[in-house]
Amino acid sequence: MKALVTGGAGFIGSNLVISLANKGYDVTVVDDLSMGLTKNLESVKDKVKFYKHDVCDHQFMHRVLDQDFDYIYYLAAVASVADSVERPMETHKVNHESVVDTLEYLRIANLHPKKFLFTSSAAVYGNYPELPKKEDSRVQPLTPYAVDKYASERMTIDYGTLYGLNTVAVRFFNVFGPRQNPNSPYSGVLSIVTKCLVNDEEFTLFGDGKQTRDFIYVKDIVNALIFISESEKSNEVYNVGYGQQNALIDVIKMYEKASGKRLKLNYADARQGDIAESLADVTRLTQLGFKPKWGLEKGLAEYWDYTMEEYNE
Ligand code: NAD
Ligand code: UD1
Repeated sequence: MKALVTGGAGFIGSNLVISLANKGYDVTVVDDLSMGLTKNLESVKDKVKFYKHDVCDHQFMHRVLDQDFDYIYYLAAVASVADSVERPMETHKVNHESVVDTLEYLRIANLHPKKFLFTSSAAVYGNYPELPKKEDSRVQPLTPYAVDKYASERMTIDYGTLYGLNTVAVRFFNVFGPRQNPNSPYSGVLSIVTKCLVNDEEFTLFGDGKQTRDFIYVKDIVNALIFISESEKSNEVYNVGYGQQNALIDVIKMYEKASGKRLKLNYADARQGDIAESLADVTRLTQLGFKPKWGLEKGLAEYWDYTMEEYNE
């Protein structure tokens, strides 16, 4: 089986690539390393073909796509909501235009992967009060990131229904775990918390900490991605979370317990466009037959153990 993973040197991408390579897939990665790191793929470097390249270079992408993949996992994106608010045009090119160009090339070149999987986001739901969020709940994309994810997701499904491609889109809730890059102010919150715990640095909490998220461990995400892409169903959107709503401050407390350390907190104003409450309805994914194995507490404990092993190396 041949798989292409765009954004495959990033946090979720590298966890996926390692899993696919270890399952015997022939994996190709395109990543410009704007957030990804080659060291994330160190353990599988002999098994994976790696292109350090921008997915917005359409001619290059067409040549890669001509290799005729069985599975395409489209993860390349500027993954930060806050960054998209700062740089709406640049992030639009990656988060939307590159996706449509890929779909269009598959159409005109008559390429038919077994599955084209696009990674959308819970950010599309915005701040409407209905909880939990179902795949057919009202959307309210409040940021350029959310607008682009929603538009790309719709295009993904439309290319399925209109042109017969096997496509699927997943709306991840908040993912955490090994290899999430903490070194940008826009990095995922638990990677920043981890870095602060390790280095005894102060963590800036934006807002009052009562904002809620449905955090999910990356190993469950990877299993869900493979499960969904290998399933018979196409042209569908799936929420991927645990269906558990936790206040950020409570997750920090759970993580303090798992790590045996105290986090130094500094409170600041909430970020512009920040979502107040987030919770997935995961009925559709459950009905497809998927069951997560880790869960929040076990995931936090394993993430901390992994961090300590890295730290002590
Ligand atoms: P990440 O930043 O670690 O991964 C994205 C990867 O894409 C990075 O390796 C980056 O270098 C690469 N990339 C960015 N722009 C590129 C370009 N122009 N050309 C080639 N590569 C490029 O983030 P992640 O958390 O692993 O996110 C993976 C996907 O999942 C993204 O599409 C993100 O929007 C989506 N997502 C993530 C979360 C989460 O909680 N982490 C939640 C919902 C959706
Ligand atoms: C995250 C993902 C986004 C995804 C969305 C789906 C990242 C970087 N963002 O966005 O790709 O689509 O989930 O739900 O992975 N916070 C702090 N201090 C910090 C950093 C963050 O208090 O130093 C707060 C934020 O203000 C926010 C919460 O933590 O309230 C989560 O922030 P963040 O990890 O950036 O995630 P989302 O914005 O939810």
